[in-house]
Amino acid sequence: MAKTKWDPVKYNQVADFVAKLGEPLLVLLEPKLSDSILDLGCGDGSLTEKIKPLCQNVLGIDASAEMILAAKAKNINAVVKDAHNLDFNEQFDSVFSNAALHWMTSPNAVLSGIYRALKPQGQFVAEFGGFGNARIIVDALTRCLEREGIAYQNPWYFPTAEAYSDLLVQQGFRVEYIELFDRFTPLPKHLSEWLDTFGQAFFENADIQQKRHIINEVTNLLKPDLFVNGQWYVDYVRLRVKALKS
Ligand code: BEZ
Repeated sequence: MAKTKWDPVKYNQVADFVAKLGEPLLVLLEPKLSDSILDLGCGDGSLTEKIKPLCQNVLGIDASAEMILAAKAKNINAVVKDAHNLDFNEQFDSVFSNAALHWMTSPNAVLSGIYRALKPQGQFVAEFGGFGNARIIVDALTRCLEREGIAYQNPWYFPTAEAYSDLLVQQGFRVEYIELFDRFTPLPKHLSEWLDTFGQAFFENADIQQKRHIINEVTNLLKPDLFVNGQWYVDYVRLRVKALKS
C-alpha cells in the first residue's frame, strides 16, 4: 500500500472542511451516554472531540503517528493502529469512521476487524469516498502521469453501494442504510494544495519538477469544471452507511 505522510498543520489548512462536513454523520451514529465508541481513522481528532461528551468513552485510532499526536493534544484517548489489523474483541457499541475508509485498500480485512471489535448488536456507521469520487481529478491526473511515462499507484478505494453492501453482508452485518450521493465540495485553498496533500501516492515516482509540472497541468485542465465563481471545488461522491452486527 502506498504511504501518505500526514502533516496535521497542513491538513488543517487544506482540509478542515472534512471534519465539518462529517458532523451530519453524528446524527446517524446516535451516541448514547453509556456507549463505548471506536473512531476509526480519527485523524487529528476533530470529530472524536465532538463524540467525546456524547458517550462514556471514545478511542481514536489512526495509522499516522503525526495525526495521533495531534489528537492527543486535544486530550483524546488515541493510539496509532492500522485498521487492517484490528485486535479488539467485542469491546465497542459503535465503530464510527469519517473520510478514512477510502484509504484502506483491503476492505475485507478492515470489515472483519470492525465486526470483531463490536459487541453483539453493535453498529458500524461510516462515510467515505464512494464510486466515482473525485473522478474528474483522478482521470486528469492519471492521464497526465501516463503521458509523461510516470508509473503511479492509485491509493484509493471507492466502492459502489452494491459492492460494499455485499462485503458487509459477507462479514455478517445487516445493512440498515446505505447511500451513494454527490457532494460537489468547495475547497478552502487552491486545488494544487489538495493535490499536493492528498495525491502524494501518485507522485512517488516523479521528481519535484515533474510533480510541479503535472499539478500545474491538471489544475489548468480542470479549471473549466472545478473553478466556479472564484472558488475551487472537488467532485466528491460519498458513500454513507449504517450496518448492524447481527
Ligand atoms: C475523500 O474524502 O473522499 C477523499 C479525500 C482525499 C483524497 C481522496 C478522497
